[in-house]
Amino acid sequence: MDITIVYFSQTGNTKKVALAMADEFQEQGHKVNVTSWKDVRLSDIAGCSVLGMGSPCFESQAPAPVKAFLKGLPLLKGKTAFVFATCGGAPGRILIDLSKGLKKKKARVIAGFMCHGEVHHPAPCLKGRLPGRPGEEDLTLARDFARAIVTNTAAGCTAPLSGEWSDLLKPGLSFYHLVSFIAKPPLVRILLPKPTLVASRCNRCGLCARECPAGCISSEQEPVPGSACIRCYRCLKVCPKTAFRVSWWYGNLVIWALYNKLFSRLFGDLKPDERIY
Ligand SMILES: Cc1cc2nc3c(=O)[nH]c(=O)nc-3n(C[C@H](O)[C@H](O)[C@H](O)COP(=O)(O)O)c2cc1C
Repeated sequence: MDITIVYFSQTGNTKKVALAMADEFQEQGHKVNVTSWKDVRLSDIAGCSVLGMGSPCFESQAPAPVKAFLKGLPLLKGKTAFVFATCGGAPGRILIDLSKGLKKKKARVIAGFMCHGEVHHPAPCLKGRLPGRPGEEDLTLARDFARAIVTNTAAGCTAPLSGEWSDLLKPGLSFYHLVSFIAKPPLVRILLPKPTLVASRCNRCGLCARECPAGCISSEQEPVPGSACIRCYRCLKVCPKTAFRVSWWYGNLVIWALYNKLFSRLFGDLKPDERIY
């Protein structure tokens, strides 16, 4: 099989899962091209027989740039696809969003994989959750998933994989599904603080503009996040001069109200014995 795996990953968690799957596919003797969404070429997608799409979960759904990326894909008629995600325990619609985007392009989505990833969100109430994830166990499960895709596809079976991986693609009505419906970009912009620039610290290296997944920071003028900012705080994370600031008081309260440990345990996908910190 000719497999292309495309991932969006801000802090490396989803990329780790993509690489583990790619490694397993290769070990099974298949040709794999694993690439970030920013570097993927149309020919990589057009030429593959199986397409994998991975993303972290933001606001219990697929990040806006990933949704836009999926919308821009060419028709995927005749291709088998799978989706995967990493999340901080409150995944909501992430896998559904990814599979819906691919199905709209006529791909046959056969399975979804999800595991936890260390949370690098700068809100004080979230920062550092699930340290070290995805860990060895998560990556072993990712490999198992890749093997199941191979077995299924090689047997000529085009139906969704059975078991937990196909269940993950079923839409639900949990608390975090509802959050994902409400947390649309305009509301997120009102509820969460926008990073502001401390101009005196900025050395105009342009890294924030290059890294902004929403493409809303102009590198020509002062690098100020524009109105399309999705509140992913990537600029804050990558700036070598720590030139961005965020005032967290009410934003932290909003995030805490929705994603506190109790709610993540009750309504998210954290297992009863799973350590958060
Ligand atoms: C801006 C932002 C929003 C997030 N929102 C959620 C969320 O709603 N639910 C959740 O379970 N995890 C959330 N997370 C945690 C990430 O999904 C998780 O840490 C993921 O593994 C990051 O993957 P990456 O390293 O590939 O970017 C959020 C993280 C960030 C930075």
